[in-house]
Amino acid sequence: NPPPVVLPSLLLCDFGNLAAEVKAVEAAGARAFHLDVMDGNFVPNITYGMPIVEAVRRASDLPIDVHMMVSKPAAFVDEIIDAGADIVTIHAEATDDPRPILEQIRKRGALASLAINPPTPVEAIADALPLCDMVLCMSVMPGFGAQQFEAVALDKLRALRSLRSDLLLEIDGGVNASTIAQCTAAGAQMLVVGSAIFKKPAPYADSLAELTRLAA
Ligand code: DX5
Ligand code: ZN
Repeated sequence: NPPPVVLPSLLLCDFGNLAAEVKAVEAAGARAFHLDVMDGNFVPNITYGMPIVEAVRRASDLPIDVHMMVSKPAAFVDEIIDAGADIVTIHAEATDDPRPILEQIRKRGALASLAINPPTPVEAIADALPLCDMVLCMSVMPGFGAQQFEAVALDKLRALRSLRSDLLLEIDGGVNASTIAQCTAAGAQMLVVGSAIFKKPAPYADSLAELTRLAA
């Protein structure tokens, strides 16, 4: 398996200076970005959509992982990939059958990823796993940054890792210096971090280096 990657979630960055924030995080050593798209329906919050993904794409060549917290992901897959997404994550809870959407994402040349919320068991996505390049185990209920880490995600990472050794595994929510080592030990190589980078007084490079060290 590839070494762990810490993905800064731009949810809590300074959007008035988006390009500068992207460049600062990249200069700090980031190797990919995580962007949280929320529609105010699938989750009780609204963030941003295609224009922000495009703006990040213009500011950096790093891979962009777009986390679609929307009720109708199928309607936006093409546009989000056109905007610059390299990985598209849709939620299992948002659709009866994620398989056609995962196929569409792959057909368009992006990596297909399926997310499950803390209450959703791994069994719920068993049929879709062969079409997944990545699975995201949420360690908070999606919608907001800076929430408390839910350890149930670790059990699901271990279960998924034993099912498929080649699957990329991501964890998102409450990942910080106290929780990140457990995440990689459970099999995650994609570690999404929001507040532990953007709500710290420390320079981004220091937080990123510390998290990357603890993840290894
Ligand atoms: C939560 C989002 C996360 C969030 C993580 O709904 O999917 O990506 O930004 O933020 P922290 O790391 O603060 O939990
Ligand atoms: Zn996210």
